Amino acid sequence: MTTSTALPVHPIPALSGNNAPVSQEDVFEEMEVIGQVPTDLNGLYVRNGPNAFYPPEWRYHAYDGDGMLHAVRFRQGLVSYRNRWIETRALKEEKAAGRALWQGLKEPQRTDRPDEPLKNTSNTDVKYHAGRLISMWYRSGLPYALDPETLQTIGPADFDGAIARLSAHSRPDEHTGELIFFDYDVKPPYMTYGVIGPDRQLKHKIEIPLDGPSLPHDMAVTEHYTILHDFPLKPDPEALAAGRYKVRFFGEQMTRFAVVPRHGKPEDIRWFTAKPAYLLHVVNAWEEGDEVVMVGTPYRVHTGPDGKPDAQRLETTIRLRQRDFMLYEWRFNLKTGETTERVIDDVLNTEFPVINSAYQGRKNHFSYHVVFPPGGNENPRFPGLVKYDLRTGGYVAFSEGPRHFYNEPGFAPRDNPQSEDDGYLVTLVWNAVDERSEIQVFDAKGARLAEGPVARILLPRRVPNGFHATFVSQQNLDRWGQP
Ligand SMILES: [Fe+2]
Repeated sequence: MTTSTALPVHPIPALSGNNAPVSQEDVFEEMEVIGQVPTDLNGLYVRNGPNAFYPPEWRYHAYDGDGMLHAVRFRQGLVSYRNRWIETRALKEEKAAGRALWQGLKEPQRTDRPDEPLKNTSNTDVKYHAGRLISMWYRSGLPYALDPETLQTIGPADFDGAIARLSAHSRPDEHTGELIFFDYDVKPPYMTYGVIGPDRQLKHKIEIPLDGPSLPHDMAVTEHYTILHDFPLKPDPEALAAGRYKVRFFGEQMTRFAVVPRHGKPEDIRWFTAKPAYLLHVVNAWEEGDEVVMVGTPYRVHTGPDGKPDAQRLETTIRLRQRDFMLYEWRFNLKTGETTERVIDDVLNTEFPVINSAYQGRKNHFSYHVVFPPGGNENPRFPGLVKYDLRTGGYVAFSEGPRHFYNEPGFAPRDNPQSEDDGYLVTLVWNAVDERSEIQVFDAKGARLAEGPVARILLPRRVPNGFHATFVSQQNLDRWGQP
């Protein structure tokens, strides 16, 4: 049965309610289920997120907490849950000292640790590569490898010393077994790009020539190309020179995309320009005739009274972590060098896009997102999920109402799937009405998302709201075996 304990109340919203960290590592195997867990749903859903180990005594930012993984294992209709901190180098040092040694984004960085002035919490994304979970940090740092069954940290994923840093969102290609990564920094080289092989050895690495520091959050891969991002939202060079970090949107500059063959050299890069924009997350990319197509959920760029992009509004939206997104497509013509772009849908406001990972880099039709209320709403409401048809912008949506908070889902292919959407959506949900966390499973096929979850598994302890998730199918787990 579920138990409910008083929700933490803290003056800092990022440490209050279901944003507050949990203090235990648990395994739950027998949980109450409403509905029925499908027996052809097999594999692992795992989600990363911030969960401070030591109670923060600084001006805490929502991104500061130590990375913690929450994993839900599906086996023939049985479900188990476990959570574990990612034992990063920094967390181990802190545990040895018995106290926090780093502060957060809102405080000065450590000057005695040029190797890690800001704590690499590895709290942002998690992917599966060659038998191991790989946790990553959005500011770029050493990634960590973890056992997918036990969530035990194996250690830094430096790939035999070849990698000192990579950024969320580096992307595994489950067709080739490669891990395609990028790294960015405020000092040269401002961006690097590379590929790790299925043998966990560095296969390829190049520098991407940029004029200065940029702020890419994601990348896109097709079967043969990688698309790297250089948006006109950048660390302010004047502030950087003065030792400060401030993000500015240079609305008069174009967006630049580097399209490079997966194992290409710097001279193979094709640069494409597009309207000034800022994108956190890519939905997917693929090749179509002479074109490389990329779909994502960029921020809506509003225009000011002068008809130019309203830079201040976008900066504020981003700084306050408000949500104001649309579904958008860029097409890069490799023959003409031209970019064409279009809005696929700007009616719904959605983010945290995921797809059936077997279709990454291949033309696909469906993506699944968390839906928000319209506009740059300050109230952090994540009330439901959406399934988009990328061809038409049509959608099927499910909302549980304003008192439910949905996390990034994972697409779980049904055993022996017959089509792209033949599977389930799995996610963690904070149910503030009953003050509990739930694992919810939706049928993803056709329009069935609208019918609501086919199974709700009630967790005996809350799971704090978090960042990115992945689903690893049983087939993929079996392919690689033990880490
Ligand atoms: Fe992200």
